[in-house]
Amino acid sequence: MKIYLDNAATTPIDPDVVKAMIPVLQNQFGNPSSIHAYGREVRSAIEQARKSVARFLNVSPAEIFFTSGGTEANNTAIFCSVRDLGVKHVISSTIEHHAVLHTLQELEKDGKIKLSLVKLDDRGRIDLADLESLLKSDQKTMVSLMHANNEIGNMIPLKQVSELCTKYNAVFHSDTVQTMGHYSLDLQEIPVHFITCAAHKFHGPKGIGFLYINHTIKIHPFIHGGAQERNMRGGTENVYGIVGLAKALEIASENMSEHRDYIQGLKNYMIGKLKENIPGIEFNGDPEGESLYTVLNAAFPPSENSEMLLFNLDINGIACSGGSACSSGSDTGSHVLRAVYGDVDRPSVRFSFSKYNTKEEIDVVVEKLKELYAVKVS
Ligand SMILES: Cc1ncc(COP(=O)(O)O)c(C=O)c1O
Repeated sequence: MKIYLDNAATTPIDPDVVKAMIPVLQNQFGNPSSIHAYGREVRSAIEQARKSVARFLNVSPAEIFFTSGGTEANNTAIFCSVRDLGVKHVISSTIEHHAVLHTLQELEKDGKIKLSLVKLDDRGRIDLADLESLLKSDQKTMVSLMHANNEIGNMIPLKQVSELCTKYNAVFHSDTVQTMGHYSLDLQEIPVHFITCAAHKFHGPKGIGFLYINHTIKIHPFIHGGAQERNMRGGTENVYGIVGLAKALEIASENMSEHRDYIQGLKNYMIGKLKENIPGIEFNGDPEGESLYTVLNAAFPPSENSEMLLFNLDINGIACSGGSACSSGSDTGSHVLRAVYGDVDRPSVRFSFSKYNTKEEIDVVVEKLKELYAVKVS
C-alpha cells in the first residue's frame, strides 16, 4: 500500500483535468499568436481559461497573467514593483517561501531595497502591531506576506493586512500558492495588488500558474520576448497547462466547502490519533488557530533515530516531507522551523492532505509511526 501525504509539495492531477487537456495536446497545436484558424482556436481556449480564473477571483480577465508557476509569479511581482513602482522598502517575514525570500535577499544585496522582517510570535504568527509600525515609513513600501505557510500552515489575516496596506498606501503582494483552489477569494472584498498561483497545488498540471495584477498597477515585463500576455510575459503560452489550470480551479471551486470539511476532518483525525499514540508529540505552527486545513506539521519527541523517521516512512510506502531546525549533517534544515523555534532538535514531519486521502490511510500511518517509535525509544 502506498500512501501519499505530501500534497503541499504537489498534488496528483485530477483525471477530469487530464480529460480537459487531452484534446488540446492531441489536436489544438496551433500557435495562439498565429492569426489563422489554428491559432485562433487555441487563442480562444486561453481566453476562456482566463475568464474562468477571473470569475473565481471576481476580477477582470485583463488582470490575470499566466506564468510558469508560483516562483515566476512571485519573482515578477516583487522584482517589477521595485523596478517600476519606485518601491524602496519591503516588509516581509522570515517564513516566506524561498521564491519570495531569496528574491528579496537578492534585491537587498544589490542595494535596491531595505528589507524589514515583521516580528513573529512563538507560534510563527505575524505581529500586526509591528507590521503597522514598519508601515510608518517615509519610503515607498511593499508588503509581501504569504497567505498560508507551506510548511507549518499558518495563515495571515489577509483582509486586515490588506486594510493596513491601504491605510499606509503600500503595495501589497501575497503568495497565495498554498491557498489558491482551497479557499474562495473575492478580490473586490479583499483588495490586493498581486497574488500568485501554481496549478499543481490543487490537482492541476505542473509548470503553469498565474499572477494577478490589480488594474491600478502598471509594470513592465519581467520576461522579455514576444507580445504574449498582452505584452507582459514573452513566450509561447503553455496552452494545455492553461486549460488544465482553469479546469482544476473550476473543479476546486465547485466542491470547495465539501472538500474543505472532508480534509479538515482528516487533519483533526490525525491530530487526535497522533496525540493518542505518540507520547510527547507536539504540533508546529498554530493548528488550532488560523491554519491551512491541508497541512499538519508534527514535532516528534527527540530520540536517537528520529531523524530516520522520514526515511523509515518512505521505505514503508508513506510519502511525506519534513525537516528540522537543525542544520546538522547534510540536511540544511527548515528555515521556517528555525525562524520560529530556533536551532533546537525538533524532528518534524509535514503531513499534507488532499481530497484523495482517507482516514484508513491515516490509521496506517499512525500505526507505522507508533511501531517505529516503540522500537526506537525502547
Ligand atoms: C508558498 C509557495 N510559494 C511558491 C511556491 C513555488 O511554486 P512553483 O514551484 O510551482 O513555482 C510554492 C511551491 O512549493 C509554495 O508552496
